Amino acid sequence: MIELTQVTYSYPQTARLALNDLSINIPAGQFCAVVGPNGAGKSTFCYTLTGFIPHYYRGQLEGFVRVAGFEIPEVSLGELAGQVGLVFSNPFNQISGTRFSVREEIAFGLENMGIPRAEMQLRVEEVLALTGLERLAERSPYALSGGQQQRVALASVLVMRPPVLVLDEPTSQLDPLGKKEVFAVLDVLSKRKDTTVVLVERELEWIASFAERVLVMDSGQIVADGRPQNILASEALLALGVGNTRYTVAARQAVAHKLATPAEPMPVTLTQTREFLSK
Ligand SMILES: Nc1ncnc2c1ncn2[C@@H]1O[C@H](COP(=O)(O)OP(=O)(O)O)[C@@H](O)[C@H]1O
Ligand SMILES: [Mg+2]
Repeated sequence: MIELTQVTYSYPQTARLALNDLSINIPAGQFCAVVGPNGAGKSTFCYTLTGFIPHYYRGQLEGFVRVAGFEIPEVSLGELAGQVGLVFSNPFNQISGTRFSVREEIAFGLENMGIPRAEMQLRVEEVLALTGLERLAERSPYALSGGQQQRVALASVLVMRPPVLVLDEPTSQLDPLGKKEVFAVLDVLSKRKDTTVVLVERELEWIASFAERVLVMDSGQIVADGRPQNILASEALLALGVGNTRYTVAARQAVAHKLATPAEPMPVTLTQTREFLSK
């Protein structure tokens, strides 16, 4: 569903490679998390998947990029709308500002796609339920908390049923409750397996609980790629400054205090740490 081969990219007027010979294959329906230090190229990777590079950020793109059956440089952003959805950190910036209710805001993108009215209504009700926004449907998109707004942004993208969904730190500007609300939606998506998801995220505990695969980026490259338990507890991630999950940290401390014997790999979720400590 996502195929990048030897992709190299530099922003206009820069010599530094924001993506450096990056190759990756992500099959349909996979839920893939991306982690890495600041400046690693995570956002640049997202922009490449969604066609912002090279259609909005010009710069120098080399290599092969195919997403949802489209060779990205060959198609316009308009053609990609509805195929590849993108959700950013700041929910406020994603609200159209032209619709007076949450329900209308969510329908906004569909209106331009020529979808029959009955089908549109069905889809809108479906994503309202998925994102837990039914009771807020008549509210103004502006009279909402950050977590609610981010769910509106997510719903506006999901209503178009894009085969590929890219989220760039969607919870980084939310309070703990807002984060939880957004992760609850992502958790459902991860179980449905009908959307290929690329999620850049700092909250490693959440990644551990529902991602199938974790990519680690550094200096424009993918430096590690594997199952959450193998990646999220790795010393390499500590060395990059990304850290480990708090459960891994707790398990390591238990080992340091001789309360537990080390395991390979170390636990990354609460359940795994409970088991680890009870052995
Ligand atoms: N609009 C831009 N113009 C020039 N350089 C940029 C731009 N955006 C990002 N960069 C550079 O590209 C590299 C990767 O950045 P980015 O993809 O934003 O990393 P991350 O999202 O992992 O923090 C960094 O060196 C950053 O300074
Ligand atoms: Mg970024």
